[in-house]
Amino acid sequence: MEFSIQDSQLLATKGLINGQWVDADDNSTVPVVNPATGEQLTDVANMGAAETRRAIEAASDALPGWSDLSAQKRSTLLEAWYDLVMENQDELAAILTAEQGKPLFEAKGEVAYGASYIKWFAEEARRVYGDIIPAAQPGRRNLVVKQPVGVVAAITPWNFPSAMLARKIAPALAAGCTIVCKPATETPLSALALVALAQKAGVPDGVINLVVGSRSADIGGEMTSNPIVRKLTFTGSTPVGKLLMKQCADTVKRTSMELGGNAPIIIFDDADLDQAIDGALVSKFRNSGQTCICSNRLLVQAGIYDRFIERLAEKVGQFRVGNGLEESTTHGPLVSEKAVTGVKALVDSAVADGARVVIGGDSGEQGSCFFQPTILADATPAMGVFKEEIFGPVAPVFRFESDDEAIALANDTEFGLAAYLYTNNLKRIWKVSEALEYGMVGVNETAISSEVIPFGGVKESGQGREGSKYGLDDYLETKLICLGGL
Ligand code: SIN
Repeated sequence: MEFSIQDSQLLATKGLINGQWVDADDNSTVPVVNPATGEQLTDVANMGAAETRRAIEAASDALPGWSDLSAQKRSTLLEAWYDLVMENQDELAAILTAEQGKPLFEAKGEVAYGASYIKWFAEEARRVYGDIIPAAQPGRRNLVVKQPVGVVAAITPWNFPSAMLARKIAPALAAGCTIVCKPATETPLSALALVALAQKAGVPDGVINLVVGSRSADIGGEMTSNPIVRKLTFTGSTPVGKLLMKQCADTVKRTSMELGGNAPIIIFDDADLDQAIDGALVSKFRNSGQTCICSNRLLVQAGIYDRFIERLAEKVGQFRVGNGLEESTTHGPLVSEKAVTGVKALVDSAVADGARVVIGGDSGEQGSCFFQPTILADATPAMGVFKEEIFGPVAPVFRFESDDEAIALANDTEFGLAAYLYTNNLKRIWKVSEALEYGMVGVNETAISSEVIPFGGVKESGQGREGSKYGLDDYLETKLICLGGL
């Protein structure tokens, strides 16, 4: 609680275009507020389409120089950035908690998680290999080379303001692309601090540009319509993702979309109950339930249903909800009052339809952005909590009898990001994992995220993969060079 954001060396409030920190053209600003206290932390430049256009032009001017650097040099600069992020982990975490609300230990974890992508892609930058394909005709050779897609635009969310930005900028830079980023209106400070450190690490002017503010439609409109931008990468809601994809169609941009989820966690009778409860707690209540891969629907087999709920409630009762800057806090606020209203409406409607509140059930006493960690028993597929991404600390628990019923329930959604199952039966592990229509499946594990895995979804949860050896592909074009007359 001693942390004062105004004293932070990493506090930046202007946008970054071509290495210059700049105000909005009309000098307007937008406030950044701590959701735990309602306190205004600072205000940042409120930029729009014209500033975004200049940022894109700066990225375009910087592209030849950056893509011509050796992979070794780009890698070294990314390593230097990684070192600075880790040296400033505590301060970056405090900024993150102040603007986003998550507890300090989670914020520290997020900063390290984001940094791990920078390090990973610093390493992967040096492993962009091509191919030689035997020709169908004599006297020819077919070479396949990988080239950067060009100028990238990135739009990132408020729930992981540091990590989601790092996992887009790092592969883009590793591949030889330059980038223009727009962080969420609610949480620009983490992004500004991260990019300031990249600048300090020696990343050349124009390679990373950042536009900030609340004119998201104007900024997004410029990013998606400007022909210079060759790729858009977005993490956020499915409706916004669909809109951006439509807008990108006119200039046929590549897109990577990490969109909404409605993750099931299936707990079978034969599961190790302690392990399953720990997994459900971590997954459901991480970031107060504001994670795309949070368990949204807890599907529990009939034989252990009551015991599971009783033991889960005991643990949830031990949570300490409060200001994330206080060491004792285990769970912070939601991002806004609007978010609380949405979560409350889902809970109230489930209760009206017959769900039973085991614990929680209402907004919190700590402030207007808080919601009590909640467990709803007797939830059914007819309820909104089954269909919608809750994005709050609410665990609806559904009962099922058979494997086939669990699979059908799990797949009964337009989303397909992450799914989890707990069982000790090997045959069931294979059967269920393969039947789940999801991009990521955790078996007896919910903490699946890391820089080494391909993060991404199927169906309306998106396209493309972030992290892992597959993550660079999204930022590379595959080009054929056919040598003839040999
Ligand atoms: C997300 O909410 O989509 C990010 C979660 C993660 O990377 O673990």
